[in-house]
Amino acid sequence: MPRKLTIAIDGPAGSGKSTIARRVAALLGYLYLDSGAMYRAVALKALGQHIPLEDEARLAELARNTHIELRPPTPEQDAAGLKNRVFLDGREVTQEIRTAEVSQAASRLATAGSVREILVAEQQRAGQGGGVVMEGRDIGTVVFPHAELKIFLDASPEVRAQRRWKELHEKGGTQPFVEVLQDVRERDKRDRERQVSPLVRATDAVLVDNTAMGIEESARLIVFLAHEREAALESAAPEKV
Ligand code: CDP
Repeated sequence: MPRKLTIAIDGPAGSGKSTIARRVAALLGYLYLDSGAMYRAVALKALGQHIPLEDEARLAELARNTHIELRPPTPEQDAAGLKNRVFLDGREVTQEIRTAEVSQAASRLATAGSVREILVAEQQRAGQGGGVVMEGRDIGTVVFPHAELKIFLDASPEVRAQRRWKELHEKGGTQPFVEVLQDVRERDKRDRERQVSPLVRATDAVLVDNTAMGIEESARLIVFLAHEREAALESAAPEKV
């Protein structure tokens, strides 16, 4: 049995992270975990309770008293392209956390260091033991700095906004493309420039630019890299007697 890896996939909004990470996990038989869903869930709760997104102390208090659970989709949901089911204090919020309002709120809340500490600890617990593909912004740099395989996914802002626009419209959204592009740019800027755990490529992450690459092609490239890494770890492991 090859050793099960921890795979960290980071990248900006619309880089295809979720779809690709989920596909990689399915191909390898690993657990898929979407760390962004946790930021989104806490943001949804903060919006519901009218907590100002700059009130770090109250947001941390809220995060501490929140129970988030990520569950795999049912086979029907999986076939429909759903990634993780998300439960916030026991209530399913899988769809609710995907609105443009929650996206912006999540990226604002994610600048709070004390909120991040709480969610990072949750993510480390959820991914312990390996055999996991976790995607986000700081997985290879902060959550799993010793992950055996780190991928930094990127694509041009226009292509990323195009994907996000298509996704929103398929769900009945009416936001014009220029607004989606502006949202993507704003979030990118906030994610890359924040003081705590900014979105950066870990020095040992493999850069996969999928501007001109399909989902399946990108996923298979990552699976190929994972098999290579497994083989390297096998041959480096001391002989068992
Ligand atoms: O799917 P998309 O790339 O649009 O966003 P997401 O992964 O669901 O994350 C939503 C927001 O949460 C991002 O804009 C980040 O600000 C934040 N986030 C983070 O700071 N660290 C992570 N590990 C994951 C998400």
